[in-house]
Amino acid sequence: MAAMEKSLVALVGMGTVGTGVARLLLDHGDRTARHAGRTLWVQHVVVKHPDKPRDADMPQGVITDDLQRLLQDPQVKVVAHLIGGLEPARTIMLQLLESGKDVVTANKALLAEHGPELFDRARDLGRTIAFEASVAGGIPIIANISQCLAANQVLSLEGILNGTSNFIITNMQEQGVSYDQALREAQRLGYAEADPAFDVDGSDAAQKLAILAHLAFGARVHWQEIPRRGIDEIQVNDLRYASDMGFSLKLLAIARLRDAGLELHVSPTLVPKGTPLAEVRSAFNAINVVGDAVGPVFFHGQGAGQMPTASAVVADMIDVAVGRAAITFANLKLWSQQPPRVDLSDHAHTQSKYYFRFDVLDQPGVLAQIAGILGKHHISIASVHQYDRDKDHATGTVPLVIVTHRAQEQHTSQAQREIQQLQVVKTTGERLRILSVEGGN
Ligand code: NDP
Ligand code: HSE
Repeated sequence: MAAMEKSLVALVGMGTVGTGVARLLLDHGDRTARHAGRTLWVQHVVVKHPDKPRDADMPQGVITDDLQRLLQDPQVKVVAHLIGGLEPARTIMLQLLESGKDVVTANKALLAEHGPELFDRARDLGRTIAFEASVAGGIPIIANISQCLAANQVLSLEGILNGTSNFIITNMQEQGVSYDQALREAQRLGYAEADPAFDVDGSDAAQKLAILAHLAFGARVHWQEIPRRGIDEIQVNDLRYASDMGFSLKLLAIARLRDAGLELHVSPTLVPKGTPLAEVRSAFNAINVVGDAVGPVFFHGQGAGQMPTASAVVADMIDVAVGRAAITFANLKLWSQQPPRVDLSDHAHTQSKYYFRFDVLDQPGVLAQIAGILGKHHISIASVHQYDRDKDHATGTVPLVIVTHRAQEQHTSQAQREIQQLQVVKTTGERLRILSVEGGN
C-alpha cells in the first residue's frame, strides 16, 4: 500500500487549547488522516517557555521558542495560532501569513480588534484565516452560519457565548458558591482567559458577537461599539429572587434585525426556566439562530475548555489542509472594505420587559413614589414582590422587586436613576432585561 501523504503543520502556543490540539493530532492521527486524506504531521511547536512540562508527548526537538525556525520552513503550510491577547499575537499572525502559511486561530480578541487588517493582509497574500474556535468553543457556529445556513437571511441570534460567565452563574445559582470561588474554579479548569476581566465584564461575549454579526448580517461593527454589561456586579440575592419568579440569569449576546437596523447588545438577562437557553449550564454555550427560511435552530455544546476547543481547531486545520477553507474564506470577504449590509439601531430605543430591584424603607407611600416615576416614563408594572425574609433590620430596608411590561431601554435607565435619588431608596439596586418566551426581549 502506498504511504499516506504528509502535510506538515505547526502550532504557535501550547497552553490549554494548544495541548488539546497536540493530543488530537498525536493520539488520533488516524482519524485526522481519514478526514484530511493525509497525515497532519506536527513539525514545530513554538512556545514562550520551551522547558515547561507539557501534557502532550511531543517528540524531542519539536518544541522551540524560535519562531524563525517555523517562519523559515517553507514545507509547513498550516499553523494553529493559539496564543491569546493582542500583541505579540497580531505581529506573529502577520509574520505567519507573510511567510506563506495559512492560519487557524482561536483568538477572538485579536480578530475582533484587528480583523480588518489581518483579513485584508491574508486576502492580499492569497492566504486563509480559519477561526471556528474563536466563537463558542466546540460548537461549529461559524461553519453553520457561513455555510449551512447560507440560503437564509438570519433574523436573530441569541447566544450564551462566554463559558466562564455561565460556569460562574451556574455554580452561584445551583451550589451557592461565591463569585470568587466559582471564578477560581473556572480558571483552574482552563475556561477563563489569562486575564479573566473580559470574560466577566461582557467584553469577550461582545467580541464573539461582533464576529457573528459580521458573518450573519454583514455588519461592520467594532466590538467596543456593542453596548455590554457582564456578570461581575450581579448579586446572589437577585439570582434567588429571579429563580423564585421562574427565571434563570444568563449572560446573553443578542443580535436582532429590526426595521430600525441591527440591534446588538450583551446583557445579563432573565430567561424563563424551561426554555432551552435557561437550561444551559456550566461552561456550555448555546446559540438560538432564527433564519427566514429555516426558522429557529438551536446549537448547544461546550463553549470553552481544552478538548472542545481543540476539536474546532483541528477541524479547521483539516479544512485548510484540504483546501476547503480557502474557498470559503475567499468568498466570505470578511472584514473587507465593502460597505456594511446593515446599520446598527439605537440601543436607547431597544425594548424589553425589565426586572428592577430597589432596597427601600418599609413604610407607607414608598411604592406610590416608585410607581409614579415608572409611570412618568411610560413603564407599565406587571408585578411587584417584596422580600420581607431579607429585611435589613439595621437600616429598615426590604428588597422590592418590580417586573415590568415591555419598555424602552432609555426610559428604564432614566427611571432607575430617578428612583435611586428618592430618600426612601437606599442602594443602587438592579435592573435586568427579561427574555420573552414568545421570542425577543
Ligand atoms: P494559554 O494561556 O493556556 O496558552 C497560551 C500559549 O501561548 C502558551 O503555550 C504560551 O507559551 C504561548 N505563548 C505566549 N506568548 C507567546 C509568544 N510570544 N510566542 C510563542 N508562544 C507564546 O491560552 P489558551 O490555550 O487558553 O488560549 C489560547 C487562545 O485560545 C486564546 O486566544 C483564547 O482566547 C482562545 N480560546 C481559549 C479557550 C479556552 O477554553 N481556554 C476556548 C476558546 C478560545 P508557554 O506555554 O511556553 O507559556
Ligand atoms: N474564556 C472563554 C470563555 C473561552 O470562557 O468562553 C472560550 O472562548
